[in-house]
Amino acid sequence: MMAQGFVVRRTLITGSGGQLGAALAETFPGADARPRAALDVTRPFSADADLVLHAAAWTNVDGAEADPEGAELVNVAGTRNVVALGAPVVYYSSDYVFDGAKRSPYVESDPTGPRSVYGRTKLAGEQEVREGWIVRTSWLFGWTGTNFVRTMLRLGAERDEVRVVDDQRGSPTYVGHLAGATRELVELPGGIWHVAAGGECTWAEFAEAIFEGAGLECRVVPISTEEYGAPAPRPAYSVLRSERPGAPQLPHWREGLRDCLVRLEGP
Ligand SMILES: NC(=O)c1ccc[n+]([C@@H]2O[C@H](COP(=O)([O-])OP(=O)(O)OC[C@H]3O[C@@H](n4cnc5c(N)ncnc54)[C@H](OP(=O)(O)O)[C@@H]3O)[C@@H](O)[C@H]2O)c1
Repeated sequence: MMAQGFVVRRTLITGSGGQLGAALAETFPGADARPRAALDVTRPFSADADLVLHAAAWTNVDGAEADPEGAELVNVAGTRNVVALGAPVVYYSSDYVFDGAKRSPYVESDPTGPRSVYGRTKLAGEQEVREGWIVRTSWLFGWTGTNFVRTMLRLGAERDEVRVVDDQRGSPTYVGHLAGATRELVELPGGIWHVAAGGECTWAEFAEAIFEGAGLECRVVPISTEEYGAPAPRPAYSVLRSERPGAPQLPHWREGLRDCLVRLEGP
């Protein structure tokens, strides 16, 4: 079989129980989509694949500070195991590989400088990829799993106000849009690609948009990163844009939020 288009490729999806993995499984309906229980990337495994969409990862940014070996095992050694299959890999990486000192969007040629254990392991995972696409994306949200949108919907229904960080800027990216862009990307040359939603905001601005979109009466109290006091340092600015010709363009994050809320509300 020729690996010429996603339709004829034998596609393996790792981490299909995660929020991006679930979106990829919908977008690549013929794929062999395996959640962690069916494929633990840290253990030896085999699979017949012409393409791997590697969505499995240690994504607990704060938890990685307390267990760097655990994060490294999944994000670095796990990626090495996936690469060893020999098929081209789409590796999903993160805006957290940057230090956040810039005030204009990060492009593919910008120097990296991760500030957290998670960011360092995601960058080391990038370096494991031999053939394929390194997709740096940011602030993912979708209809499953733990993410900012679902957390805000829960808190907004329980409380009159929430305190939300207002000094980190990024581009909240809807997993449905990223999964669609992955179909475009696998027809493009390999290497690093920045693929994130259009527009930018702070977490507090994002929370306001979530409450407005969901019709929730909950006040957002903007606070600083320092006041919030999370264990892992995060970049103050991590908007991503691509400098590569033909890069997939994702809709604005507000459009992603609208689509996600529709999906969460159900038919
Ligand atoms: N979330 C974000 O804001 C964000 C931003 C930029 C980039 N990314 C990257 O995008 C990708 C997808 O992230 P996501 O938001 O979809 O994360 P997610 O919802 O946490 O999904 C990750 C999945 O990987 C699974 N997993 C963990 N360890 C595994 C192992 N050893 N073997 C196989 N599967 C394992 C998890 O299973 P369990 O739940 O059972 O542990 C989970 O289902 C990741 O590479 C992440 O680093 C995420």
